[in-house]
Amino acid sequence: MKQENKSVHGVWGSRWVFILAATGSAVGLGNIWRFPYITGENGGGAFVLLYLLCIAVVGIPIMAAEVMLGRKGGLSPINTMRKLAGESKVTQRWAGIGHMGVLSAFLILSFYSVVASWALYYAWEAVAGGFQGITAAQSGARFDALLADPWLMMGCHTLFMVLTMVVVGRGVKGGLEKAVEILMPLLFVLLLVLVGYAATTPGFKEGLLFLFEPDFSKLNGKVVITAVGQAFFTLSLGMGAIMAYGAYMPREAAGKKGGKPKPVSIMSTVIIIALLDTLVALGSGVAMFPLIFSNDLQVGQGPGMMFVTLPLAFGQMPGGMLFGSLFFILVVSAAWSSSISLGEPVVAWLVERGLSRGVA
Ligand code: TRP
Repeated sequence: MKQENKSVHGVWGSRWVFILAATGSAVGLGNIWRFPYITGENGGGAFVLLYLLCIAVVGIPIMAAEVMLGRKGGLSPINTMRKLAGESKVTQRWAGIGHMGVLSAFLILSFYSVVASWALYYAWEAVAGGFQGITAAQSGARFDALLADPWLMMGCHTLFMVLTMVVVGRGVKGGLEKAVEILMPLLFVLLLVLVGYAATTPGFKEGLLFLFEPDFSKLNGKVVITAVGQAFFTLSLGMGAIMAYGAYMPREAAGKKGGKPKPVSIMSTVIIIALLDTLVALGSGVAMFPLIFSNDLQVGQGPGMMFVTLPLAFGQMPGGMLFGSLFFILVVSAAWSSSISLGEPVVAWLVERGLSRGVA
């Protein structure tokens, strides 16, 4: 029996569009802001190995499961779970998983968009030359001043949320698909340029050693939990985002000209997404640590690493204004495509309840 595979919300144009969209969800502040600083705090190489292990044995199977549920249901996570529970003749309480996911995605969006809006402000500062020749004290003071200025933060946050909601409001085809088709290639090009720039700096070797030379004495229970948590967060798991995107996944891909359509394999698709996500996390580390070491700055500065240490490095380096600008544009694009996926589950659910997308 051939199963109907059209979601009311639309279907991605192809398997590759799904890969772009899911990678857009996965690649975000978790890769560029969080991964490097927790790697810094947890001693570098050994943490990276543990993280890779978590992606392989926990992340990939769970992502495959989420995509599969989504594709089977074809609806928002709440109604997907409700529908599948009905079909399996089990209790409707399974819909609770969908409710939790949609609520969590919404809650994550509420803080994620704040950090993203800081990056938006920093992109502006970088382009305006605000990092040039600053001292460590000035760099710290700029970040503190931003955090102490509710109006400035509210303005940046509003702008970022408008960007996000315009895309979600335009729907799967006209919004999400178009956005990821532009943002994802841009992101990979920017990252490549920044890695190339890092390779020209004197701290390149030290940066690589820090990332890839394991020191197992740094591992303990807390580090393991951090690595598992990072694997979940970076692959956007457990919050309905990937389930929602899975719901728009085509069941069959067009074969070569005139050929028969081929079924789309979930497992190989998910492995590609996880690989791309890991590549960006490692690439961000390779782009950032050499700059920090080249300027004799400290790693392990916590959440401020990207907003305090890095601007300082850019401000002291040749080409720092250009590459600093490119860096923060990269961060904003990555955060944007992730925020879209955090907004989509709740919007899809509201649409199913009868609202128009724009209003939702
Ligand atoms: N994965 C994104 C990142 O690494 C964040 C994200 C987007 C997310 N959608 C999600 C995290 C859903 C958890 C659940 O930045």
